[in-house]
Amino acid sequence: MRASGWVCRFLAKSAQPEMDLLTTISGDMMQIAMIQDEILALKDIESAYMDRGTFFGDGVYEVVRSYGGRIFALDEHLERFSRSLAGIDIGGIEIEDVRARVLRAFERADISDAKIYFHITRGSEVRDHAGGGELKPNFFLTVTDAPDCEAQKRDGIGVSTYPDLRWKRCDIKSLNLLANVLARRDAAQKGCAEAILVSDAGKISEGAACALLMVPEGCYVVVTRPLGPEILGSITRQVVLKLAAEAGLAVIERAITPEDAKGAAELFIAVTTKDIVPVVRFDDETIADGKVGRHTRALMERFARLVS
Ligand SMILES: Cc1ncc(COP(=O)(O)O)c(C=O)c1O
Repeated sequence: MRASGWVCRFLAKSAQPEMDLLTTISGDMMQIAMIQDEILALKDIESAYMDRGTFFGDGVYEVVRSYGGRIFALDEHLERFSRSLAGIDIGGIEIEDVRARVLRAFERADISDAKIYFHITRGSEVRDHAGGGELKPNFFLTVTDAPDCEAQKRDGIGVSTYPDLRWKRCDIKSLNLLANVLARRDAAQKGCAEAILVSDAGKISEGAACALLMVPEGCYVVVTRPLGPEILGSITRQVVLKLAAEAGLAVIERAITPEDAKGAAELFIAVTTKDIVPVVRFDDETIADGKVGRHTRALMERFARLVS
């Protein structure tokens, strides 16, 4: 088969300099990597490029939030992180070391309302699904400003449904987030702040990055899906359910459908970075009168007191 004119021109332009570079580096055959358009000896590249987290999403993560200089629910997040690590068989991590790193970075950043992200991957090596042997896990963390969601809390958000394309262990907070990313991108294209994932059986699992809770019409009740492998055990959901009980609301854990959600008196999402955010539009339907509901408002106030 003849190469096209474009390919011939490309090879004529680029092949010779690359060959020269390779012979200059070692004179022998060698394993190489290409980063953007630069060719390097594989042994010389930063190990972060060979991270199994990048190749396979082979790692787990957490997000914690601080309010006024204090990290909220760090113990609960570290416990979940431990479970996630065990869930994908990454061993040898001292969770107290992780806590110490989180606290050290938080102190250094000196951001009082911060979002702290951290992950551990299985380690770095030449790409191979099963992996060669004992690797040193990679730790990565960022401390950034917590998102400003004042307008969302005041006016509520719109959400849109998307098929739940994820794997069967969503209780593990894994780095594999492609299905969540696609759902969020679809929501953004529709002008919505969050995607609500719907299972093949027609039930709502959760949001792409949050729990979904509902107050049905005429009830002093909060309904949300029970914990299980289909959803992440949200720390904020756990706190909200406690606050709901304290506020005299009954808690019912059962799966709901998009039709249930559209007919709700109140809907809201729960997530670490934003705690409680009211939902006022679900696909093309306005929820009740389109305003933030009174139970949602009461729960937001309780949450604000808890973290102040
Ligand atoms: C899929 C999913 N569900 C729920 C949540 C909420 O969990 P948490 O309240 O622990 O932040 C998140 C948070 O990122 C999430 O990604």
